[in-house]
Amino acid sequence: MDAALELKQIHKIFEAGTVNENHVLKGIDFTVQKGDFITVIGGNGAGKSTFLNSIAGSFPVDEGTILLDGQDITHTPAYERAAHISRVFQDAKMGTATRLTIEENLAVAWNRGKKRRFAWGIKEAQRKVFKEELEKLDLGLEDRLKMEVGLLSGGQRQALTLLMATLVDPKLLLLDEHTAALDPKTSQMVLDLTDRIVQEKQLTTLMITHNMEHAIQYGNRLIMMNNGQIVVDVSGDEKQQLTVPDLLALFKQNSGNAVMEDALLLS
Ligand SMILES: Nc1ncnc2c1ncn2[C@@H]1O[C@H](COP(=O)(O)OP(=O)(O)OP(=O)(O)O)[C@@H](O)[C@H]1O
Ligand SMILES: [Mg+2]
Repeated sequence: MDAALELKQIHKIFEAGTVNENHVLKGIDFTVQKGDFITVIGGNGAGKSTFLNSIAGSFPVDEGTILLDGQDITHTPAYERAAHISRVFQDAKMGTATRLTIEENLAVAWNRGKKRRFAWGIKEAQRKVFKEELEKLDLGLEDRLKMEVGLLSGGQRQALTLLMATLVDPKLLLLDEHTAALDPKTSQMVLDLTDRIVQEKQLTTLMITHNMEHAIQYGNRLIMMNNGQIVVDVSGDEKQQLTVPDLLALFKQNSGNAVMEDALLLS
């Protein structure tokens, strides 16, 4: 199998050399195979978001190498990485442009990574694809192409964000608690949609979640982070057989923390 992503000895230190120095990623070695769907769990402040941000290039890492599809992207700026790496965040507002219509947003996504953007106006062929893709969401959005995205509900907007993130197959899909702000039913809808898209397109995916059941249920591999390191890495049958109590036990074992954090327990 080919590696989609390789991280070698990644370190990230915020505010180095000041009193606020914070060594957040402590030598991460991590290889992701093409088509892996990996769930990422860990307590608050464990470094999960920083881990994903490092991959996306939100800031330079202090040490280490990042290879995407065999290419060294360690020093590639975020906007160039964005041609191949799609992200969805907790806040649905971050993935879409409020004042643009659904079809305008989709047109932006359609052009991601393309060098020439000749499309002034949306062509009928393109609109047809947008409609087909929106129909798959089963939210009735295919009849509302001209509607401003700001008028959508949080769940509808997050479903659209997900569609935009995957309209052009990314080499890597990064999801940072992308359903955490939604009510349970809507969260489930967006998760099911996520799973469907990831399976259909065989997308290499990293999904941070605070929900242990989701971490077990989705994906083929699960990692747990603690204090800037990957402390648990399970896949295949071993992952399939995991239970929530198993994960809680693993967390306690690896965090040296007998008290389970609320954020993990309550979600
Ligand atoms: N841009 C930044 N500048 C300074 N410190 C940061 C920055 N981003 C994250 N940190 C710090 O890095 C540490 C890890 O944060 P991170 O957001 O990666 O944790 P997390 O595992 O995603 O936690 P949560 O579950 O709460 O989202 C925290 O101490 C945080 O304050
Ligand atoms: Mg986070």
